[in-house]
Amino acid sequence: MNENKQEKKFSLDEIAAFCKRKGFVYEGSEIYGGMAGLYDYGPYGSLLADNIRNEWKKAMVEMEDNIVGLDSAIFTRPEVWVASGHVGGFSDPLVECKECNTRSRADHLLEDVGAEADDKMTEEELNKVWQENVTKIKCPKCGKNNFTEVRKFNLLVKSNLGNFSGNWADEPTYLRGESCQGIYLNFKNVLQSTRVKVPFGIAQVGKAFRNEISPRQYIFRRREFEQMEMQYFVRAEDELANYDFWKKKRMDYYVNNLKFKPENLRYKDHDHLAFYAKAAVDIEYNFSFGFKELEGIHSRGNHDLSSHAKGSGQELVYVDGGTGEKFTPHIVETSVGVDRTFLAVITEFLDKDNLGEEERIVVRFPVSLAPVKLAVLPLVKNKEEITGKANEIYNNLKKLTKIEYDETGTIGKRYRRQDEIGTPFCVTVDFQTLEDNTVTIRFRDDGRQDRIKIEEIENYLK
Ligand code: GAP
Repeated sequence: MNENKQEKKFSLDEIAAFCKRKGFVYEGSEIYGGMAGLYDYGPYGSLLADNIRNEWKKAMVEMEDNIVGLDSAIFTRPEVWVASGHVGGFSDPLVECKECNTRSRADHLLEDVGAEADDKMTEEELNKVWQENVTKIKCPKCGKNNFTEVRKFNLLVKSNLGNFSGNWADEPTYLRGESCQGIYLNFKNVLQSTRVKVPFGIAQVGKAFRNEISPRQYIFRRREFEQMEMQYFVRAEDELANYDFWKKKRMDYYVNNLKFKPENLRYKDHDHLAFYAKAAVDIEYNFSFGFKELEGIHSRGNHDLSSHAKGSGQELVYVDGGTGEKFTPHIVETSVGVDRTFLAVITEFLDKDNLGEEERIVVRFPVSLAPVKLAVLPLVKNKEEITGKANEIYNNLKKLTKIEYDETGTIGKRYRRQDEIGTPFCVTVDFQTLEDNTVTIRFRDDGRQDRIKIEEIENYLK
């Protein structure tokens, strides 16, 4: 039960229907009947996802003097996931309904009846909580109450890539379960090939894969998803100060860069920490199903570099160029999903209002996130001087950013079409344009219209 659930303008089903209708998100393999946890981004969704990645990279790499980017491979040697602890301990608690064979996350079913369980508990501890609460729990599919015991189910996705010999012949190659492991693997390379000095960060955006037991809540929990992760390497004594710094900086990012309302965000400290962790917090967003994790900020000690040093037999240390001091840096991590940000962005900005007499759907994206920044609309489509001028404007401006040209339907319908995909500006070319080179610029949020010179349009895009 989520006591923080508040009335939202749109339910998750309404958001999903909107995203499908307007080409933001489609169900994966839909013509074959779809598959749980798989989704595809459509024409406008892929543009929005690009903008989300770009905003993050701008804030986390371009605007930061001591953070560098990376794009590591999805596949790694099998040993990586043993050293990282994922082969041994990256699991979710699974129960199966004996009546209909539906598999569910035991911790989610427990949470639904007000009991608590988390991924740090042993199988024994989980089964104890399960037994104490099981009479209250029903299978989400068939409604019956006849379950297996709780067992831990490893989330790594196996592949048949490669052909290993020696000690690792029996260990499969995994698709990465989190993107940050590629950062640890390249720590030494980055030190050797760049001029970074502690404290510094390595950031990357990339896909990750998890065999989620019951992918739920639309694109919130996918089996194939994308993470934007940054690992900040610091001296041990500076770890907690840097943790506080990034905790605040990442919260500010959502308010200042993505323009989320502060009341839709909050911190939630982790109740149980991994044995190596000093502190961990989630930034939660107020989704249509209540406040849930959007991003994690983790103070990870020197666990990651030490584990890979041990696993690989390589020295993964930093040498202070001034003093010659050698040490294993500690890490503060920031980690957020592209998909969760996508869902938060749609939830935050999807709106309906009355403009004039009519009710309309409008997405109030900030300009930086809007898939299409501007639409060029000829007032009529059967007058060549007007369509010619509109095309000329369109061809000039499309070099700058993503814009659209649309001449089909009434001007009112075309404005609504752009409102629904969140285009902040529409420019209309009419008869007056032919006389004085001015156009009408119409603003998405309030429908206001101004007359401006053609040369001025570029300023709005900037
Ligand atoms: N490297 C740390 C790490 O992976 P995590 O809390 O498991 O930590 C970090 O994941 C972020 O990745 C989450 O806050 C969420 O935004 C995103 N994420 C994790 N699992 C996901 C899934 N199955 N589907 C979509 N996003 C997911």
